[in-house]
Amino acid sequence: MTNIILLGPPGAGKGTQARHLVETRGMTQLSTGDMLRDAQSSGTEMGKKVAAIMAEGKLVTDQIVIGLIREKLLVGSEGGFIFDGFPRTLPQADALQKLLLEMELKLDAVVEMQVDDEALVARVTGRSTCGGCGEVYHDVTKPWPADGACSNCGSTEVKRRADDNEESLKTRLMEYYKKTSPLIGYYYAKGTLQRIDGLASIDDVQKSIAWILGK
Ligand code: AP5
Repeated sequence: MTNIILLGPPGAGKGTQARHLVETRGMTQLSTGDMLRDAQSSGTEMGKKVAAIMAEGKLVTDQIVIGLIREKLLVGSEGGFIFDGFPRTLPQADALQKLLLEMELKLDAVVEMQVDDEALVARVTGRSTCGGCGEVYHDVTKPWPADGACSNCGSTEVKRRADDNEESLKTRLMEYYKKTSPLIGYYYAKGTLQRIDGLASIDDVQKSIAWILGK
């Protein structure tokens, strides 16, 4: 069982790589962004509360996301957890450490995916996802199949996120550099940080992560 954190700015490729690890290694993806979007579409009070914050590109409160992660960790995972977009602040990182300790789980690696800002703008503004299965596409680098049907599940529902525009991305990047990038030093000091070139092709990034995970 392997537990890892995928750490990187918006559009670094965390979700793309997490989906691959779920398919190939039977790991469980814990994406706080997806959990918050699910809460929005199911119309819960919490979903309504966070919708505007997310569209603007700001971070939602630590308390909310820690609560979401705690619930999912309690369910357990045979293949291990991929933390995708969590933790994003030092208090979230401390809370995760406590939760893992309580559940007698260990963190095997923190993979920092390094991508420059210019590439992030192009990735985020060109992104779409499948409404059926969540497969991630890109207008240029991974376009939808010509017949308009998702190559993974056949759905024709194309989704675009409310925060995938240049304005929100500016705020998301500022939040990342101010509140999330200090985690790089935090995990470096703990000896768990591994850095990879997130600008490489999707296949090459997969290979770098596989190497870190030991195969
Ligand atoms: P969240 O959903 O976590 O978004 P994010 O961190 O901004 O990351 P993204 O999902 O945008 O990008 P990604 O790294 O997964 O990239 P992807 O693989 O899709 O968070 C959204 C919001 O929720 C936050 O702003 C905040 O409000 C809130 N939130 C979430 N978690 C929180 C927390 N812990 N605390 C507080 N608030 C929280 O790839 C992007 C595109 O690039 C795709 O089109 C893909 O096809 C393409 N691509 C991927 N890899 C490559 C590659 N190697 N080469 C070329 N193209 C590639």
